[in-house]
Amino acid sequence: MAADSSWVRIVTAQTPTNIAVIKYWGKRDETLILPVNDSISITLDPSHLCTTTTVAVSPSFDQDRMWLNGKEISLSGGRYQNCLREIRARACEVEDKEKGIKIAKKDWEKLHVHAASYNNFPTAAGLASSAAGFACLVFALAKLMNAKESNSELSAIARQGSGSACRSLFGGFVKWVMGKAENGSDSLAVQLVDDKHWDDLVIIIAVVSSRQKETSSTSGMRESVETSLLLHHRAKEIVPKRIMQMEEAIKDRNFESFSQLTCADSNQFHAVCLDTCPPIFYMNDTSHRIISLVEKWNRAEGTPQVAYTFDAGPNAVLIARNRKAATQLLKKLLFYFPPNSDADLDSFVLGDKSLIKDAG
Ligand code: ADP
Ligand code: DP6
Ligand code: CO
Repeated sequence: MAADSSWVRIVTAQTPTNIAVIKYWGKRDETLILPVNDSISITLDPSHLCTTTTVAVSPSFDQDRMWLNGKEISLSGGRYQNCLREIRARACEVEDKEKGIKIAKKDWEKLHVHAASYNNFPTAAGLASSAAGFACLVFALAKLMNAKESNSELSAIARQGSGSACRSLFGGFVKWVMGKAENGSDSLAVQLVDDKHWDDLVIIIAVVSSRQKETSSTSGMRESVETSLLLHHRAKEIVPKRIMQMEEAIKDRNFESFSQLTCADSNQFHAVCLDTCPPIFYMNDTSHRIISLVEKWNRAEGTPQVAYTFDAGPNAVLIARNRKAATQLLKKLLFYFPPNSDADLDSFVLGDKSLIKDAG
């Protein structure tokens, strides 16, 4: 280490969120975060919904600390500790001649880190903040500590922060392979196709409410695993086939099949939530109205124009087949949910006036 202890080494990373089109909902191992089924997601454009995390190390830091959206959070939960421990174990020597910093491999055991993270979209509102958040933290720490692991290896570490985070290490369409190993070594993300493969698609997020959800994904899925028979049927009998069909639809850029599978899987995930005891309601009336709007429109057109999917929250992720469909969708959304109107709009505007973000 440099003789002078006033040095600070800083790294900043930015990671987009991802939205599952075949959902992960349920763990077979809570500590290692191993899922009961494979899942597939689409990584969003980082210029729209993303996390920015800055990590720093200095001999003057006497403990690990983290700030999320400007507020200090506790790192005592196992997830942050697990990610830190895994990256620390892979830390390598760092030499920054310009700053006169030399950190030997063994020094990393004694050094503490500070992390500051910002989400440019609602946190804990069903837009996968935990996915972008943990992927970004793991990626930034790996750079800080000069860990040489590939993104695939890092995905298995990010998974231990939040399951969905493993998929944010890659762009395009990504599959989280559930794996078989008891230690979780083969439960990681693989890129199916990159973001160029199907670039006609336009994603529009309708922010119905940016309020923090009442039931976190972690506790919601724990309750579902314990009480929902439908969850186990889904994981065993339905998802494996859907995964194969979805991979095929993505490979062939078959929007008809893609949208049918995406909408059906979102609806089944929310049916599992209803099948949980006590039932969990992530969607609200506005979410339901958006579903009806899209269903009616798709039916009237004969061929589907838009797919919808809702994570653990009321906010709609709408995937339009092309720019023309996206423009029509935006017009419809603005017509049925006009900004600054009353009554109908309350639930739509609740907590958020930004309404719609074009992530295409
Ligand atoms: P979401 O639907 O937004 O993913 P979750 O319930 O899955 O909601 O997770 C929300 C939790 O994820 C937050 O309470 C926080 O603990 C963690 N989280 C969110 N954003 C970040 C971030 N940028 N860095 C680290 N952790 C984060
Ligand atoms: C509905 O990854 O947030 O978004 O692993 O407990 O952190 P933890 O849960 P999380 O769950 C995501 C659930 C989902 C579906 C998905 O992203 O696949
Ligand atoms: Co989450």
